Amino acid sequence: MSQKALNMSDICIGFNGVPVLKNVNFALDKGEVCGLVGKNGAGKSTLLKIIQGLYHADSGNVEIFQKNVKEESHRETYDLVGMIFQELSLIPEMTVLENIYLNNEIKSHNIIKEKEEQDRVLSFMKKYDISIDIHQKIKNLGSADKQMVEICKAVLKNKQILLMDEPTASLDDKQAAKLYKMVKKLKENGISIILITHHLQEIIDNCDSIAVIRDGIMTLHDKTSNVSMKKMIEAMLGQEQTDLTFDRTITNVEKAQPVLELKDITTNFIKTPLSIKIYPKEAVGFAGLKGCGRTELFRAIFGLDKLKSGEIYVQGKKVTIKNPVDAVENGIYLIPESRRFQGLSVEHSIKFNIEIPILKKLAKKIFVNDKAGNELVDDYIKRVNIKSNGRDDLVKSLSGGNQQKVVISKALATDPKILIMDDPTYGVDVGAKAEIMKIIDQFKVDGGAVLLASSEIEEVNQNCNRIYVLKNRKVTKELMNEDYVSITQDKLATEIQ
Ligand SMILES: Nc1ncnc2c1ncn2[C@@H]1O[C@H](COP(=O)(O)OP(=O)(O)OP(=O)(O)O)[C@@H](O)[C@H]1O
Ligand SMILES: [Mg+2]
Repeated sequence: MSQKALNMSDICIGFNGVPVLKNVNFALDKGEVCGLVGKNGAGKSTLLKIIQGLYHADSGNVEIFQKNVKEESHRETYDLVGMIFQELSLIPEMTVLENIYLNNEIKSHNIIKEKEEQDRVLSFMKKYDISIDIHQKIKNLGSADKQMVEICKAVLKNKQILLMDEPTASLDDKQAAKLYKMVKKLKENGISIILITHHLQEIIDNCDSIAVIRDGIMTLHDKTSNVSMKKMIEAMLGQEQTDLTFDRTITNVEKAQPVLELKDITTNFIKTPLSIKIYPKEAVGFAGLKGCGRTELFRAIFGLDKLKSGEIYVQGKKVTIKNPVDAVENGIYLIPESRRFQGLSVEHSIKFNIEIPILKKLAKKIFVNDKAGNELVDDYIKRVNIKSNGRDDLVKSLSGGNQQKVVISKALATDPKILIMDDPTYGVDVGAKAEIMKIIDQFKVDGGAVLLASSEIEEVNQNCNRIYVLKNRKVTKELMNEDYVSITQDKLATEIQ
């Protein structure tokens, strides 16, 4: 019989009297890779936090390598569990090597043995086929490499169970493939892994087993070979009727005057003058690999990066956008890429977050119109299906995907003419993704213009009637995607390489 790395029985946990995990049983073999899926707010991250020892279950047992963690003498078994954060725990100003050994230095007579540290990291990287300069500062690495560093750090600390919460959410296809190659090697070396993702096909392609949580109940846990995509989705959604399909509406794009035009703009990052035109009633995609320049372009339009030269026109009128306030006043709104830091105030309520950009509008004379505000917030909670106990819930108490839905509601509530979205469905489940796409589609039908970038190219392809291909911060091609068949997935994938 294979050795059990983890065994959980009858796990229950709740917050503020609301049950979140209900009698969950779960086991993981040594060297097993399990994909954990479920809707936003189902309880996936909570389960990982219990395994990590960050939360303690209200009832039930957790055994790590056959040792019950409740017993004082076995608490150190938590040390065998490592959580791979998405860059959060690394210190940007320190090098890769310094980060890996931070608080875990190899010492002899209190002297750090740098050479030994270096040799160990280099031989690890060789074994796992990783090519990262260990003397490079973390701040100079892309998100995929940062994640690799996190993994190196965990494995060199002798972690035997790795927990990865949406590790590929912000990676492009190529980077995700690299991560899964790493996962395979870790598995071959006996490391057990649980990974959460909303990209269901990735689970089928890369995991030994699949576990599904629905509303705190584990509804499926089986070998991948026994699970079809259909079965997985059914276990996620249950009886609920969710339409997962999305067909964009083909609109008559009004080409008389662009709603947004950039003429030869440059910034500190965009060195070659860049020009684009966006018309009302169209959704324009920006496709490219990570680092192609889409984030820098969006930042420039939203006034986050200063223009060095060039002009911006909104509805034919030249505008000066020095900061996001200027952008919002000109009807432009950006859903940023790293929303946890730029898009939300997590210590505040859902209501506060959605209302803050529109307080002026809600204010009648000196009174803020609370009734109108409440109605608006409640309407969004319903429309995008934010799982919460109500508008006064703090954003930090929401699950990742539900926080993202607050970001989207906040953007839509400003009633912009031009909506810029950098990876808007990051971390949202398949059902919510289709919902968000429909809302964006309606925004376009109602006369708005959408600029969309995504780490998933099919999302760009599905939603946009026109696509700019970006490489090295330059527009290298413009593709028309008027009907559904003009650009295939493969063609787009080839174009961005
Ligand atoms: N510290 C907390 N305080 C209050 N509620 C919490 C806390 N942590 C989790 N919850 C609630 O527990 C539920 C499950 O959250 P969890 O983060 O586990 O979901 P998830 O399955 O990871 O979802 P997502 O896919 O959106 O990340 C949510 O309704 C969330 O609001
Ligand atoms: Mg989560």
